Amino acid sequence: MEMSIIRNSNLADAGMKKINWVKEHMPVLNELKEDFSHSRPFFGLRIAICLHLEAKTAYMVLVLKEAGAEVTITGSNPLSTQDDIAAALFKKGVHVFAWHNAAPEEYHEHLYRTAATAPQLIIDDGGDLISLLHKSFPDQLPQVYGGAEETTTGLIRLRAMEKENLLAFPVIAVNDARCKYLFDNRYGTGQSVWDGIIRATNLVVAGKNVVVIGYGWCGKGIAMRASGMGGRVTVCEVDPVKALEAHMDGYQVIPLLAAAEAGDIFVTATGCNGVIGGDHFAVMKDRAILANAGHFDVEIDKKYLNDVAEGPRRVRANVDEYVSNGNKRIYLLSEGRLVNLAAADGHPTEIMDMSFGLQVLSLQYLLNNKGTLEKKVTVLPAELDRHIAWLKLKGLGLKIDQLNAAQKKYMESWEL
Ligand code: ADE
Repeated sequence: MEMSIIRNSNLADAGMKKINWVKEHMPVLNELKEDFSHSRPFFGLRIAICLHLEAKTAYMVLVLKEAGAEVTITGSNPLSTQDDIAAALFKKGVHVFAWHNAAPEEYHEHLYRTAATAPQLIIDDGGDLISLLHKSFPDQLPQVYGGAEETTTGLIRLRAMEKENLLAFPVIAVNDARCKYLFDNRYGTGQSVWDGIIRATNLVVAGKNVVVIGYGWCGKGIAMRASGMGGRVTVCEVDPVKALEAHMDGYQVIPLLAAAEAGDIFVTATGCNGVIGGDHFAVMKDRAILANAGHFDVEIDKKYLNDVAEGPRRVRANVDEYVSNGNKRIYLLSEGRLVNLAAADGHPTEIMDMSFGLQVLSLQYLLNNKGTLEKKVTVLPAELDRHIAWLKLKGLGLKIDQLNAAQKKYMESWEL
């Protein structure tokens, strides 16, 4: 039944329209595509990808295909896969194992079939594909040149593997490139999380008490945009330095239990599990709204809500109502999954242009250096990060200043 969705030609045409739209706004990928269509650096190579299967991702896949690769893709979250996009890629000759709202066993099967293609290069978002390859496909590991990981959460898992000497190939921490976290995590998440919350609820942010839990780059973006829309922002943190940053950025900083009493909208962006749980639900106001921006649906304790509260009752697309403590209503958005991808289309196109440009350059770097890199998680060389910035500036038509020779010398010397 679901495979027929992927093979649906009308759906594929609708998906292709979305891909054509994003293509117009991705100058970095366009420039790389132009270059790769001549040099075809990935000719004949198998690339396996686990990413949120939406239009921007699809355009990057087509760039890799143009560069000669045979690409297999699965989604990195059952709710973020868009069927029209999956169908469009299938029609273009990409191997696709994904559909929207796949059940847990289907999702795992998709991941498994993607891993089973004996890839030489990997792009992952959350670490599921790389960890499955290590667990279930040990014979394939020696053929893998390397992988590139998109998120903070994935890197935490992969660094834990490295620490136990389990990593069988090098992994590029795309998330740690400046052109990634400064833009994608901050401005991308900042905008797309509110896009998701607003699309799901159709409610106003101005005048509401917004509680942002976690003040990493994503939390910073979410808080900044909430404040820009007139929300009164409270930040909850466990890291003393980040808490101070939030304080000096002008937000109220208090423990979550205290914030829980007054909050109208709660957004988690911690990467940790069990962040909002029973103690917090118990003191929340009637009609509190809960959304998650972290990679996994573990930050809001859904199990507690399912066990203890009445519900869920779907009151609107992406909005589930739970009733607890008498008549108190709690609204959970997108089942506690990434609200920006489940209820909206993910980060803005111009932002993903840089993130996916970095992904593509990471694969090329792994290929050019195959066999020489340590089996560790490493950052992309700074010049490649800067290259993406140059391409983006060019795409935006922005010019900047350059140091002259005397200034360069001054900046490199220690004797003044
Ligand atoms: N679109 C594709 N991948 C994404 C990601 N990791 N975050 C937000 N939007 C995306």
